[in-house]
Amino acid sequence: MSESIIVPSSGTRKEIYDALLPQIRAVVESEDDKIANQANVAAILKETFDFLWIGFYRVVGEELVLGPFQGPLACTRIPKGKGVCGACFRDQKTIIVPNVDEFPGHIACSSKSKSEIVVPVFSAGQLVAVLDVDSENLDDFSEADQKGLEAIVSLLG
Ligand code: SME
Repeated sequence: MSESIIVPSSGTRKEIYDALLPQIRAVVESEDDKIANQANVAAILKETFDFLWIGFYRVVGEELVLGPFQGPLACTRIPKGKGVCGACFRDQKTIIVPNVDEFPGHIACSSKSKSEIVVPVFSAGQLVAVLDVDSENLDDFSEADQKGLEAIVSLLG
C-alpha cells in the first residue's frame, strides 16, 4: 500500500476526484475491514480538499451512529429521517444542501458549516452507511462532488 496520495496541486474538483479514485482503489482493495477503509477514505478526502468535516455514519438498526471521521467533534447518533444524514438514510440517495440554514431539521454539529453533501454507502445492495461532508463555504458542492464521492464510496462495499 502506498504511504501517500498524489493529487494535482491545481485543477477542477472533477480532475482531482479522477486522480484520487485509482489511488483510493489501491488503498482499499488490499483491506477487507470496512471501518479501516472508511477511516483512510476520510483521511484522504480531508487532506485533499480540507473540508470542514468529513466522515461516515454507520447504519445501526433505525439509527445512524458516528463512524470514522476527520474534523471537529460531532453528534454520535442520528435517527432515520432527522437532519440531512437521516434524510439520506431514509431516501437512500445523495443530498446536496447549498445552504444548511435552509434545510428543515438540519443538525448543526458546527456553526461553521454552511453547506453539505451526504452520499449513501451500499454493500450488496443494502445501505450500510452514509458519507457526510461539511463545508465552511456556501454552495460548495456540485454534481462533480456527487459523482466523485459516489464513485469513491462504491469502492467501500
Ligand atoms: N449536519 C448533519 C449532522 C452531522 S454533522 O454535520 C457532522 C445533518 O444534518 O444530518
